[in-house]
Amino acid sequence: MPDSMKIIIDTDPGQDDAVAILLAFASPEIEVLGITVVAGNVPLSLTEKNARKICELAGRPQARVFAGASHPLVRQLVTAEDVHGKTGLNGPDLPEPKMPLQKQHAADFIVETLMREASGTVTLCPLGPLTNIAMALAREPKIARRIKQIVLMGGGFFEGGNVTPAAEFNIYVDPHAADIVLKAGIPVVMIPLDCTHQALTTATRVAAFRKLGTGPGIAVAEMLEFFERFDEKKYGTDGGPLHDPCVIAYLLKPELFSGRHINVSVEIASDLTMGMTVADWWGVTKRPKNVTYIRDVDHEAFYRLLVERIGTL
Ligand code: RIB
Ligand code: CA
Repeated sequence: MPDSMKIIIDTDPGQDDAVAILLAFASPEIEVLGITVVAGNVPLSLTEKNARKICELAGRPQARVFAGASHPLVRQLVTAEDVHGKTGLNGPDLPEPKMPLQKQHAADFIVETLMREASGTVTLCPLGPLTNIAMALAREPKIARRIKQIVLMGGGFFEGGNVTPAAEFNIYVDPHAADIVLKAGIPVVMIPLDCTHQALTTATRVAAFRKLGTGPGIAVAEMLEFFERFDEKKYGTDGGPLHDPCVIAYLLKPELFSGRHINVSVEIASDLTMGMTVADWWGVTKRPKNVTYIRDVDHEAFYRLLVERIGTL
């Protein structure tokens, strides 16, 4: 077996974040060095608790969870309880976590880890607003060239936005952080709504998780049944898009995804399009190509991978 991939998951759980974290823990190809938490779907006090609940659901109480930014760099925090519920993890009734929250700030953990591990060996997997990543870059700019790659869920262009007509939630919440990260010269793989909107939590797929009959399998079914209702109503589809697990699935099976190396720039000035990710898909500008922009996924294979791996927990 080749060396496992070392990753840090930065997250705002969030039911879809939860499934991504479970997939990572269920995959021996991946070594989760730590989970850093940010305010996003719900406030930080809830996202950090949810992250610990998910680690215990996965049977990983020894995992290290670090709280980070409680608000974006510049703008006011915008949350998404209407999608994720009051707790941010509505659906299953998970017990209060017993495992500790680490004392170190998430940004300091990211810096310390990147400065300790061999250069070019650690992948960052942001699943929420990019505030912690931008803070880490500000605290120690040297980490930029030590990061192997950033594989993030965020953005959207052909599908438009999901929180405004123009912007996807993770980028919209902290567009200034996203702007910093996309201009830092780090290899970035962006998994946007254009891709995740193909990965719908259909009734058949949710049933497959429930059929696992395990704690994690049933909890995932309950999470998805809650999480999908908002988007089913909005888009009139059978199920809703399952965003964040696409990041981990990309690490495990990149061949399931396809995209193009292009320029992506973030709107940080206009109120009308704040947080929009302007994807130069046709190369009509001279802007530097800074992102591998993923537009398609083999969603049948994606769900087969998800159910198979979650079934091992
Ligand atoms: O727009 C979808 C993204 O916003 C996902 O990461 C979801 O968890 C929310 O954070
Ligand atoms: Ca998220």
